[in-house]
Amino acid sequence: MRIGILGSGVVGRALATGYLRHGHEVRIGTRQSELDDLPIGPAAQVAADSDLVVLAVQGAVAVELVSGLAAELDGKVLVDATNPLDMSAGGPQLYVGTTDSLGEQVQRAVPGARVVKAYNTVGNALMVDPDLPGGPPTMFIAGDDPAAKETVGDLLRETGWDVADLGGIEASRYLEPMCMAWVAYGARNGTWTHAFRLLRQPTAG
Ligand SMILES: NC(=O)c1ccc[n+]([C@@H]2O[C@H](COP(=O)([O-])OP(=O)(O)OC[C@H]3O[C@@H](n4cnc5c(N)ncnc54)[C@H](OP(=O)(O)O)[C@@H]3O)[C@@H](O)[C@H]2O)c1
Repeated sequence: MRIGILGSGVVGRALATGYLRHGHEVRIGTRQSELDDLPIGPAAQVAADSDLVVLAVQGAVAVELVSGLAAELDGKVLVDATNPLDMSAGGPQLYVGTTDSLGEQVQRAVPGARVVKAYNTVGNALMVDPDLPGGPPTMFIAGDDPAAKETVGDLLRETGWDVADLGGIEASRYLEPMCMAWVAYGARNGTWTHAFRLLRQPTAG
């Protein structure tokens, strides 16, 4: 699959490296002029050329960035890995929640894109091929387009994840606070290689 990644932070680079390892065609859309040995390009070109685009930019710039790429993202699967984090008080705090979410804001900003919230409840070190005792952890996803979620689910399973679909994009309201639970556990225990796992009866969805 041709995968474009917007943002060259630790998330963008971890996903790019992992997807390349799995044989996907990957390019990072970035403001940088070069980036280690990873393939890069201007964000608009990368979005236009990709089958699936991952949004991996700082949460505060996510809506503005996708708004400027509405034409290139039209009809595309847009995986939203962002979290609405405000770091101004020192530690991270959510700047939106309860009745809205960054996932919903991104979908509203690009109504033609098929947004799927994913990756926001785990650290970048485990995003591709997580290897943990107890088997594959669970990636919780949310989005309004069933076919887009199927595509993202296939990519996640291929790269080592169990997948749990929480429904429409408004479930981002629950997924974004989950990132804070992940951070709180990490800060308390000094570890950043943990992930959530959903246990269910074999017949449950
Ligand atoms: N770090 C994690 O483990 C983790 C885990 C789950 C979710 N997330 C979420 O995933 C997203 C990416 O996280 P991250 O830790 O990789 O990096 P980040 O520090 O949040 O920034 C990622 C990238 O945003 C891009 N960006 C584009 N326009 C920008 C602007 N105007 N100002 C500042 N940055 C801009 C930059 O990429 P270019 O310079 O390439 O343009 C930057 O490298 C965030 O929303 C974060 O909350 C992070």
